[in-house]
Amino acid sequence: MKEPTDMGMNRTGIGTSPFDSKELIDGAASSVPSSEGDASGIASLRISYTTESGNVGTMPPPSSVKGAVKSVLEGITARNPAVFLDKLAERLQFERTGTRMYESVLAKFDALGSFDGGPSRDTLLEFHGEELKHFHVLRSALESMGADPTALTPSADIAAVEASGLLQVLNDPRTTLPQALHAILVAELADSEGWDMLIELATNLGHEAMADDFRDAMRAEEKHLAHVRQWVANHAIQDAEGKLEQAA
Ligand SMILES: [Fe+2]
Ligand SMILES: [Fe+2]
Repeated sequence: MKEPTDMGMNRTGIGTSPFDSKELIDGAASSVPSSEGDASGIASLRISYTTESGNVGTMPPPSSVKGAVKSVLEGITARNPAVFLDKLAERLQFERTGTRMYESVLAKFDALGSFDGGPSRDTLLEFHGEELKHFHVLRSALESMGADPTALTPSADIAAVEASGLLQVLNDPRTTLPQALHAILVAELADSEGWDMLIELATNLGHEAMADDFRDAMRAEEKHLAHVRQWVANHAIQDAEGKLEQAA
């Protein structure tokens, strides 16, 4: 099978057609604009949409009496309990997606095999299991606070949209295992940041037991990041040195 870095019929660069590209550059440089107006039109449209649009979603009301009581109690201390619940739900959403991401990578592995210095199936399976475990840690945390772990909160919604590009790469049947791992690398970087922030928030709010659970998750995430980073680098170096061998 050809590597994506092998030469093919890519004609996206302007160098493919020197005559047309000269005409394009001359046209762009000429004082006659191709259309009326300038970029200020789109800028003012963005501003008016942004000021007129509402927010992305809202927080759900507590789904249980326990949640309602907790909400009132935290409210007495002038805290906004919804902020912590929103961030827990964001992490839960990300871990659920992370589990699915590793399922996509496992399918790439099964279809295409690995490479020297790449992942083993067992390691991918281990990371998949840890993402799922983290999902359950967050589910328990939300339930212990009387919240509904199935609710898509505003931050969870935003995190899902952010991850959608990564899922497009992972679920595209044409992408290779190393390309899928690059998408995973972006996810793991965001994941580590997310856990870091959640630990700080839990600690500040006095949820020490939760913070301890989250530190365990963070250690697993650091391991994921270190491995994925190495796999991606190993592949690029071997590809650049022409030493790539498919080792299924
Ligand atoms: Fe994760
Ligand atoms: Fe991870």
